[in-house]
Amino acid sequence: MILVFGSLNVDLVAQVPVIPGPGRTVLSPSYQTHFGGKGANQAVAAARIAGPGRVRMAGRVGRDGFGDSAIQNLRANGVDADLVVRADEPTGCAFITVDQAGENAITVASGANMTASADDLPAELFSSDSVLVLQMELPFTQALTVARRTASASGTVVWTLAPVPEKMTPEMVSELLAVTDHLLVNEHEALDAATAIGIAASDYETAAADLAKAGGLTCIVTAGAQGALAVTADGARRRAPAPRITPVDTTGAGDTFVGAFAAILSEGVSLQRALEAGCEAAALKCLKAGAQTGMPMRHAMSSLA
Ligand code: RIB
Repeated sequence: MILVFGSLNVDLVAQVPVIPGPGRTVLSPSYQTHFGGKGANQAVAAARIAGPGRVRMAGRVGRDGFGDSAIQNLRANGVDADLVVRADEPTGCAFITVDQAGENAITVASGANMTASADDLPAELFSSDSVLVLQMELPFTQALTVARRTASASGTVVWTLAPVPEKMTPEMVSELLAVTDHLLVNEHEALDAATAIGIAASDYETAAADLAKAGGLTCIVTAGAQGALAVTADGARRRAPAPRITPVDTTGAGDTFVGAFAAILSEGVSLQRALEAGCEAAALKCLKAGAQTGMPMRHAMSSLA
């Protein structure tokens, strides 16, 4: 069973010629509404590959229309949403601009996500065959508690260090590394995490190796068009290439990688296959606008044929 404890958002997305800097305004002809939130994105990506009934999601939404539709969307994608709790705060909302190269800038109004509690997850959920998937859009202490419960039950913890918090203390990174089995980061997050614990790495590959050693874990770096790199605690490296594509929208590409990776990991297949599936799924996602629209079903994945 894959258990995602994470954020659910509704994404309001505008295509812009250039992502505006501070003090700038740009015009966009319109906007689209998509389902998002790193947690929900990862849950949907995993369910499209693992199949219905294999993924559960816990988190919080508001008592509003966005909350209703975010829950319905999970169910429509085969994700068990019974653990999603209604909060007094509004459902999380992300304001996203996407430029002509498919790159994005995102502001998340967290709302109900920041009320999520480890107590929303009953003790019987945790077992040795659970794969817990976490990100950084919920209160860190709650995510850490759920990670520790999973580790105590000999389950597997997959943690994405995104978004990197404004104030990421050395204690946070050390606590996260201590309980995580698979740490997923992009190039910048790898360097940020290493720096936070006093490691002066000059590049993301060195940072990943140092983080893997420090945490006794596997560190996976998703590097966009350069594919993915995994470094295990003993320093061994595995790589997977990214399929060549022309991206329409990269929003949710990292989440798609994580969902596909967790789905394959939960099947006990090799780390190499999980990396390859993550890269292929993330590339396919980028061919369509919106975080979840382009996430592939298992039958569309040549790496899983
Ligand atoms: O990773 C992409 C996601 O980040 C978006 O769907 C948005 O909701 C934010 O959480």
